[in-house]
Amino acid sequence: MNWRRRLVQDLTGVVLEVGVGGGANLPYYRRAEQVWAIEPDPERAAAAERVGARAAVPVQVRTAAAEALPFDDAMFDHVVSSLVFCSVREPQEALAEIGRVLKPGGVLHMVEHVRPQSDWLAAIFSAVTPAWSRVAHNCHLDRPTLDLLRSAGWEVELLRTRLVFVKLRATRP
Ligand SMILES: C[S@@+](CC[C@H](N)C(=O)[O-])C[C@H]1O[C@@H](n2cnc3c(N)ncnc32)[C@H](O)[C@@H]1O
Repeated sequence: MNWRRRLVQDLTGVVLEVGVGGGANLPYYRRAEQVWAIEPDPERAAAAERVGARAAVPVQVRTAAAEALPFDDAMFDHVVSSLVFCSVREPQEALAEIGRVLKPGGVLHMVEHVRPQSDWLAAIFSAVTPAWSRVAHNCHLDRPTLDLLRSAGWEVELLRTRLVFVKLRATRP
């Protein structure tokens, strides 16, 4: 089964997707009462809005960044982030914002690529990142997203790891 479908199809209640891009996950939501999505790039946000209009659940898209979410506290049951945290400029602020808008016990669902476990590979990734991030929309190959979550007090359940890709569920601190 497609990883995007597996990521979102069973989510219920009110869901926020951060960095929705062109809306590649939106066709796979089935059970959510409402999906809100944010995306800082206006062209991608407009594309996501078009995809969202054809989704099986109600979707609203806002042009915004994860570091400053335009939502009230404790509004969401779930937050989804796929392939976003490598390029967020201020990941700690973004995690704090996600924590703010999640309900107590709410869950952050992530599929991300993260800093490699092995020190030598991580060193290579760090050396390549300055050049890579310039051509790849600020993508950081060495982003320690797992460490950032844990040090901010999130309870992390690793569901899958494949090379540098992780799928995880994290519960709000
Ligand atoms: C590789 S794309 C992934 C898009 C989509 N999540 C997907 O799975 O196809 C990364 C996305 O993160 C967005 N992004 C970058 N910085 C962000 C930020 N600070 N807050 C939210 N989204 C951000 C980019 O604009 C881009 O659309």
